[in-house]
Amino acid sequence: MGQVLFDYTRQDATGTSCTAHAWAKVPEPLGPEERLAWKERAAKLLQRHDAVLVAHYYVDGDIQDLALETGGCVADSLEMARFGRDHAGRTLVVSGVRFMGETAKILSPEKRVLMPDLEATCSLDLGCPPEDFARFCDAHPDRQVVVYANTSAAVKARADWMVTSSCALAIVNHLREQGQKVLWAPDRHLGRYIQEQTGADMLMWNGACIVHDEFKGLELDLLKAQHPGAKVLVHPESPKSVVEQADVVGSTSQILNAVLKSDAQTFIIATDNGLLHRIRQLAPTKTLIEAPTAGSSATCKSCAHCPWMAMNALQGVVQCLERGSGEVHVDEPVRSQALGCIDRMLDFVARNPAATQKPGLVKNIGAA
Ligand code: 13P
Ligand code: SF4
Repeated sequence: MGQVLFDYTRQDATGTSCTAHAWAKVPEPLGPEERLAWKERAAKLLQRHDAVLVAHYYVDGDIQDLALETGGCVADSLEMARFGRDHAGRTLVVSGVRFMGETAKILSPEKRVLMPDLEATCSLDLGCPPEDFARFCDAHPDRQVVVYANTSAAVKARADWMVTSSCALAIVNHLREQGQKVLWAPDRHLGRYIQEQTGADMLMWNGACIVHDEFKGLELDLLKAQHPGAKVLVHPESPKSVVEQADVVGSTSQILNAVLKSDAQTFIIATDNGLLHRIRQLAPTKTLIEAPTAGSSATCKSCAHCPWMAMNALQGVVQCLERGSGEVHVDEPVRSQALGCIDRMLDFVARNPAATQKPGLVKNIGAA
């Protein structure tokens, strides 16, 4: 069974230069009165423009609250795509990173899709340039091309399937059952996890998420020893040494649901700490501990928070609605070519709802 990594590492894909640029663009935190004022202004603008706010769990807590208070959503990348497609609003304000805005536009070309900052990207997207990816695909025409949602529209245009972390296991398993071989991109940790769980024949691209890549297995082991009753919930973009210690491996929504369904009291969570805002709202009595990102000699570029997600601020939501700035465009024929792999995933999850309800690798976590 082949498990060849396509060796692509680019200096600025994971290097400090790119994250430093993102951190420099993160707006200063607002005081309590300013936050309220910006929120009210954004709510009025959303209404005036027949717009709906579609936010990811990793963005600023005020934006998450605003989305829920104004009839929008806070969700994982699969649910963001479905919500944006199905909502009747003429304008979608997508608060997250670039690939999320592009997916919304690909699914709803008739809608205006705005983002608070169009420079909010993702190390996985940056680390998978379309021209190099096309060469990888050309070299393996016998394989089904499966790409993670965290890629550009141009990369999706070359793919047979798009997957998100909530349905990747089920879709690759489905392909394996059909006797298909898989070309996988770009996250090497998620790819390895799926390969181990399904036994599928997968060729891998060598990308990583700069946030999850920094979680440390050794330090997690020590932390667990300090909290023997804690359950460990891990996003599958994390390294093997972290995933191996998980009670649950799943997408952001699956991690949230695992906390809600479990009768355990304490959870160690290995994903971007933006998710803790929503979990705390829904499960205020639970104790949440962030998984460690840095050991005695380590440094971190993200420290469990994505710099590109952090670029999303209330001021950006107001600005894009007031000025019509940050509009996402995906030109033809790339848009219609990319639509195929997204539609295939959405059809699959519509026909197999259980595919997204159950995270992978659930050990005994009580009631979950
Ligand atoms: P989810 O689909 O689990 O929300 O993940 C998106 C993402 O960017 C994780 O880093
Ligand atoms: Fe990309 Fe990682 Fe940020 Fe998610 S958390 S958007 S995978 S860099």
